[in-house]
Amino acid sequence: VPGTDLIWRAPTESDHGRVVAVLGPWWGGRDLSHLLPRLFFQHFTDTSTVVEDVDGTLAAFLIGFRSAARPEVAYIHFVGVDPARRGQRLGQSLYQDFFTRMRDAGCTAVHAVTSPVNTTSLAFHLRLGFTPAPSSTVRDGVPVHLDYDGPSQDRVVLTRPL
Ligand SMILES: CC(C)(COP(=O)(O)OP(=O)(O)OC[C@H]1O[C@@H](n2cnc3c(N)ncnc32)[C@H](O)[C@@H]1OP(=O)(O)O)[C@@H](O)C(=O)NCCC(=O)NCCS
Repeated sequence: VPGTDLIWRAPTESDHGRVVAVLGPWWGGRDLSHLLPRLFFQHFTDTSTVVEDVDGTLAAFLIGFRSAARPEVAYIHFVGVDPARRGQRLGQSLYQDFFTRMRDAGCTAVHAVTSPVNTTSLAFHLRLGFTPAPSSTVRDGVPVHLDYDGPSQDRVVLTRPL
């Protein structure tokens, strides 16, 4: 596990504000706060992780859960790593920890969705063994699901066996 100085723990409701506060800086200025409402820090804490340094400064986080309707499926909703800590396999470690826990719980697949503009996220997911679901629309070699999350909200749909 990279960064032995780092503490991994389940989030609590009081972490919501500090995680939302890093979304803008960590996502290059995109305002994504509407995608991470407080409910994730109330109802999905047991399958999510926050990573912080000894001073309590947020280093990374993963918000994920087991599907309520399809218990064989796990879903990763959000992952973020402090830009100063990227490229050190922290994101990969968070994913691998989630994969292990969900496999142990009985899940056979993990799903995630990303935006086609987020080429870093796409490279990261492909490297971690995700496959994009086919689509009749292919852009730059990537299958894109048009209007997936609403008008003009195009997405790449990713799955990986566990
Ligand atoms: C995507 C993100 C979580 C990756 O975290 P990270 O800790 O830097 O990634 P890792 O070091 O674990 O990288 C694992 C693999 O992903 C790939 N990867 C990661 N960042 C990449 C980049 N910028 N370009 C290309 N490939 C990349 C690499 O192949 C890497 O494997 P390698 O080290 O063997 O080369 C991080 O860049 C981030 O927080 N981005 C902003 C938030 C975001 O877009 N989140 C995803 C959508 S919710």
